[in-house]
Amino acid sequence: MSEAHAPGARGAEGTIPLAVPNIGELERRYVLEAVDSGFVSSVGPFVAEFERRFAARVGARHAVACSSGTAAIHVGLILLGVERGDDVVCSDFTFVGSVAPIAYLGARPVLVDSEERTWNVDPELLAGELDRRAATGEPMPKVVEVVHALGQPAALEPVMQVCERYGVAVLEDAAESLGAGWSGGRFAGKQTGTVGAIGCFSFNGNKIATTGGGGMIVTDDDALAARARHLTTQAKVPDVGYLHDEVGYNYRLTNIAAGLGLAQLERLDEFVRAKHRIADRYDAALTDLPLVLPPRVEGLDATYWLYSVLVPDTDGRGRDDLLAHLAERGVGARALWRPLHLQPPYAESRVVGGQVGASLFERGVSLPCATELTESDQDRVIDAVRSFFD
Ligand SMILES: Cc1ncc(COP(=O)(O)O)c(C=O)c1O
Repeated sequence: MSEAHAPGARGAEGTIPLAVPNIGELERRYVLEAVDSGFVSSVGPFVAEFERRFAARVGARHAVACSSGTAAIHVGLILLGVERGDDVVCSDFTFVGSVAPIAYLGARPVLVDSEERTWNVDPELLAGELDRRAATGEPMPKVVEVVHALGQPAALEPVMQVCERYGVAVLEDAAESLGAGWSGGRFAGKQTGTVGAIGCFSFNGNKIATTGGGGMIVTDDDALAARARHLTTQAKVPDVGYLHDEVGYNYRLTNIAAGLGLAQLERLDEFVRAKHRIADRYDAALTDLPLVLPPRVEGLDATYWLYSVLVPDTDGRGRDDLLAHLAERGVGARALWRPLHLQPPYAESRVVGGQVGASLFERGVSLPCATELTESDQDRVIDAVRSFFD
């Protein structure tokens, strides 16, 4: 993988990177403040302030800062009672960080395919799977983990409806969708990550807001939040004698990272606006090409964290040819993820559907969309994409 293709990495000189963090004066100031204060690890004022402001921003009662999004999902699944041998539904079309925590717990992923409309979990396939279990007496999955991929909210209303009918808890993997939400339907006004019992976010270097590495658990449930804090801090009980009352994890975010995160959070609206501006310009400039552009779904308000298009197979030329064409022109584009059922550790998992995610993978290309992408660089990307079809 070339540097230019690594999300979050700066490209070689002259190449336009896919997505790079936008770090400015505010970030430098808060990080230095954290360093100078001596509070460099997970105890410190920035951690609590980042959690408080994050919860307020997304509209959740509690936020618990973690060392990564994967850690957040791991603890989130424990909070919802996932144990060895349980089934846990997960979107098939996602980054591997969504599913690895299911495997950590010795639980069994059940991989449900995407719908064409949102590229996220297909509610009908999910309902079919839960109905089938109800009819045959097979146990329900302990949790349904819904991913809002690429900054696009999933169609959560029908998902919640069927999960509520069967009493199955929902964990939202909102790692890629900070700032996205619903403006129509039952969840109008809500942000991704705040509808299910637990929501998990990532602040990896390529995300819309970064802490270098980090994550967040959000919930409205006081008891779940308290347990999340406990589990992420080695399950330490306040006691002079180092008492740990269960198996815990060293999963808290550091104060330095939280300083970075707080600054990024204060600039989140600016970042979301930039992502929208970039998406709108790409949409207008590419609409006449034989490409499928990212979903635009009424009431499901995406951030376009990554701007990804689907390439048709024309004259035997497809995704890899476009990627090579763009790389030759200094454009740091990237393929979408291989769906989980095609990843070796999950190849034996039960799959429900399976064709849509595979097709997104086979055709998907993400175009440069760093929040600092200039119009002239975006024009270079647009020209490079257009010239592929000349
Ligand atoms: C959908 C999704 N889930 C989970 C993760 C895991 O987050 P992290 O890299 O912070 O562990 C990521 C991103 O990295 C992701 O994109």
